[in-house]
Amino acid sequence: MTAAREHWGSRFGFVMAAAGSAVGIGNIWRFPYTTGTNGGGAFLLIYLAIIIGFGLSVAIAEMLVGRAAQRNPVGAFRTLGGGAWPLVGYGGVLTGFVILSFYIVVAGWTLAYVGFMASGSIHTTDAGQLSQVFSGFVADPVRPILYSGVFMALTAWIVVGGIAKGIERWNKILMPALFVILLALVLRAVTLDGAAAGLGFFLKPDFSKVTAETFYAAIAQAFFSLSIGMGTLLTYGSYLSRHEHLPKATLTVAMVDTSVAVLAGLMIMPAVFAFGFDPSAGPGLTFVTLPAVFASMPLGALFGVLFFTLLAIAALTSAVSILEPMVCYFVDEHCMSRRKVVIVAALVCFALGIPASLSFGIWSGVTIGGRNWFDLMDFLANNLMLPLGGLFTALFVGWAWKKATHELSNEGSLHLPWAPVWLFVLRFLAPLGILWIMASALLA
Ligand code: PFF
Repeated sequence: MTAAREHWGSRFGFVMAAAGSAVGIGNIWRFPYTTGTNGGGAFLLIYLAIIIGFGLSVAIAEMLVGRAAQRNPVGAFRTLGGGAWPLVGYGGVLTGFVILSFYIVVAGWTLAYVGFMASGSIHTTDAGQLSQVFSGFVADPVRPILYSGVFMALTAWIVVGGIAKGIERWNKILMPALFVILLALVLRAVTLDGAAAGLGFFLKPDFSKVTAETFYAAIAQAFFSLSIGMGTLLTYGSYLSRHEHLPKATLTVAMVDTSVAVLAGLMIMPAVFAFGFDPSAGPGLTFVTLPAVFASMPLGALFGVLFFTLLAIAALTSAVSILEPMVCYFVDEHCMSRRKVVIVAALVCFALGIPASLSFGIWSGVTIGGRNWFDLMDFLANNLMLPLGGLFTALFVGWAWKKATHELSNEGSLHLPWAPVWLFVLRFLAPLGILWIMASALLA
C-alpha cells in the first residue's frame, strides 16, 4: 500500500478534472451523430431522462465508493465489500484497456485533422471528395497508427505527472480553453443563415424513430459520456478529501457534460443544415460533413482548426481519465512505480489500438460475430461493460454497502432530504432500467 495518498489541490481542480473526463469525443463526435441517426429531439429527451433518472445517481454512487475507500477500483470494492465484489473493480480496469484501444484511434484522427485544416489541404465543399480523403486516411496502414501513438504518448505524459501536478494542472488549463473555443463555434453556427432548420431538427422530437434500440443507444451514450461504470469516477473520487460535498460536485460535472453535448449539437446541426448537408451521416459527420461546412464559410480554415483542436483537447482530458484507474490499481495494489506502470500500460494500449486502426483498412474484413475489431471493442465497452459496471455499482451501493447514506452525508453533517430517493434509484430503478433496456435491445 502507498504511504500517503495524493489528493486534488482544490475543489475547482477536481471539478475540472472530472468534467475533463466526462467531456470527450463522446460529447462532440458521438452525441451529435447518434442524435442525428436516432430521431433528433426524441433521442435528446430519452437521453436526458436517463441522465436524470439514474445516470446521476449511479455517478454519485461510484464516486462515493472511491472517496470512502481512498483506493483504486479493485482495492475499494475489496475494502468496502469483500467477497466477489472486487470483480467489479477488475472489470473496470479491463474496460479501461478496451476503451483506450479505440479511443486513441479516433483521437489520433482529430490530431491529423488539425494539421489538414491548418494546411488547407482539404479545403473543399465537395462532400464526396472529403469522404474519399477520410476513408483513404483512416484506411492507411501507417499514418493513423502514428497519430494514435502520439496521442497515447501525450496522455501518458500527463498521467506520469500524478494527480495535482499532472492531471489536475492540465485540466485546469485545457478545460477553460475548451469552453472558450466551444462558445465561439456555437455563436458562429447559430448565426449562420439557415441555421433554424438545424435547430428544429436537433430539438424537435420525432417519435416515429424511437425503438428499443433508441433506448439502448441512449443508455450506452449516457454511461459513456458521464464516464460511468469503469472505475474512472471511483478513482477520481479516491483522491478527494472526505469533507467535499460530493453530490453537488457530481451534479456540476453532469450538468457541464450534458451542456457540452447539447452545445455540440447546437454547433454542428445548424451548420450542417445551413449548407445543405446530411444530418444523419453517422460517424463521418465530424470528419466529412464538417470540413465541407468549414470550406463553405468565411474564415472556415480558422474555425476548422479551432474545431479539431477542441476535439483533441476533449479527447486528451478523457483519455487521461481512462488510463488513471489501471495505473492507480497497479500502483496501489502491486506497489509499482507510477512512471513504470504508465509506460507499460500506454504501450499495451497503443498495441491494442493497432488492430482497431487497421479495422478501417486492411483488416476491415477480419470480423468476429460480424464486427471488426474496432466495432467489437466499441460495442463491448459501451453496450455491455459500462452498463454492467454501472449496474453492479448501483447494486453494491444500494444493497451491500450498509454505510452508503451515512457516507454520502459526510457522516451526518450534510442535510440531504433526497437521500432516500437516491437509494431507491440505486436499489430498483437503475438496476431494473439497465437490465430492461439491455434485454429488450439484445432480444429484439
Ligand atoms: N466520457 C468520455 C467521452 O464522452 O468521450 C469517454 C470516457 C471517459 C468513457 C472515461 C469512460 C471513461 F471511464
